[in-house]
Amino acid sequence: MQSIKQKIRDIPDFPKPGIVFKDITPLVKDPVACRRAIQLLIQPFLDKDITAVAGMEARGFIFGALAAWELGIPFIPLRKPGKLPYDVQSICYDLEYGSAQLEIHIDALDSTDRVLLIDDLLATGGTAKASCELIELLGASVVACGFVIELDFLQGREKLQGYEVHSLLHY
Ligand code: PRP
Ligand code: ADE
Repeated sequence: MQSIKQKIRDIPDFPKPGIVFKDITPLVKDPVACRRAIQLLIQPFLDKDITAVAGMEARGFIFGALAAWELGIPFIPLRKPGKLPYDVQSICYDLEYGSAQLEIHIDALDSTDRVLLIDDLLATGGTAKASCELIELLGASVVACGFVIELDFLQGREKLQGYEVHSLLHY
């Protein structure tokens, strides 16, 4: 795990003063460490009959798509508004300051699907909670949520009560 943690770079005061941004680009630049991270990310869910991996734009696409590839199952993108070309289900949610929206194609999942939600980072949990609700609006089940990084001090996990949450690195 230490070899993965070494590949996360702290960028102070990005995107605003006071925020320490966790930069995952050194991790994805290293194929050995990145592959190890993906294997550890999916390992707890190998026996859970997952049928699809969903990932949030943008950094969730990187880890989610790699996890889906590794599992040999579909990847479902959850996108920012106006990006998906077909009919969509949308959800609005609150951020620390302001609000945001995510969308999914209405035929991306159905009631037979057991979904693993993957993102790079769990902060306040608003994005992940909204993503779980979006998946459930299509009738699918969220089996678990997996994150490379969890910012424990923001207590995002509390917003995900009722879901299994697994994070590789804690800060
Ligand atoms: C970041 C991160 C998560 C989200 C976590 O994405 O990749 O998706 O914030 O924050 P939360 O737990 O407080 O909701 P961001 O919205 O910055 O989008 P990006 O991946 O396009 O940079
Ligand atoms: N998303 C929310 N908080 C973040 C942080 N500190 N670093 C990277 N992405 C984030």
